Amino acid sequence: MNDPTTIRRLYGRRSGHKLRGGQEALLERLLPAVSVPDEGPITSEALFGDRRPLHFEIGFGSGEHLAYRADLLPDHGFIGAEPFLNGVVGALQHVRDGHLANVRLHMGDALDVLERVPDGALTMVYLLHPDPWPKARHAKRRMVNAGPLDLVAAKLKPGGEFRLGTDDPTYCRWSMMVMNGRRDFEWLAESAKDFLTRPGGWPETRYEAKARRKGHEVWYFRYRRL
Ligand SMILES: C[S@@+](CC[C@H](N)C(=O)[O-])C[C@H]1O[C@@H](n2cnc3c(N)ncnc32)[C@H](O)[C@@H]1O
Repeated sequence: MNDPTTIRRLYGRRSGHKLRGGQEALLERLLPAVSVPDEGPITSEALFGDRRPLHFEIGFGSGEHLAYRADLLPDHGFIGAEPFLNGVVGALQHVRDGHLANVRLHMGDALDVLERVPDGALTMVYLLHPDPWPKARHAKRRMVNAGPLDLVAAKLKPGGEFRLGTDDPTYCRWSMMVMNGRRDFEWLAESAKDFLTRPGGWPETRYEAKARRKGHEVWYFRYRRL
């Protein structure tokens, strides 16, 4: 049987526009300073030198949501993972411009880093507009699958929150089906309004604004780890 955690295929491109000189310099100078260490457990003490609530964003795109949350909660620690080079540069620009001392980045697969976080150490996990893998035969590659979700569940503390957003109707239905089958998460929606309107503290990213301009609906899911 396939174990979805082992299906680590990335969707789409790893790099896009050629980097400009300033962006190259930022990547060389700032990325090493804010990168998650290559080895060892990923704890708030190891990353920030103290005990603080930890948040983890899977696939932060160009880092707008990560930066917004980090700015909102300066006493919390934020870990973001994204393999897309231009996205990482975008996040570095946010870190530099917003003087965000509470952000650490990993350029690569989020699951590689998530595995190294001690169980129960995370307060929040974000997965916004995950790659759709629209073909049914590729469904096992979706981030919303037993393997990655078991990992998210293990790393969240009881009472912690998993936020999932999508503008893809297939992914929306798929996620509801997969998440409703889980005993370790409670869906925090009491009425349709709760998943049709953006919850407080959940900023609109450029990706989402573009989706809305194309006429897409956006669904916002919040789950509490039991
Ligand atoms: C459709 S984009 C959404 C970006 C962003 N979350 C937003 O809402 O603006 C999906 C992102 O997930 C990233 N991604 C895909 N697989 C990933 C993985 N295994 N670990 C980390 N990021 C991943 C992609 O590189 C891409 O940037």
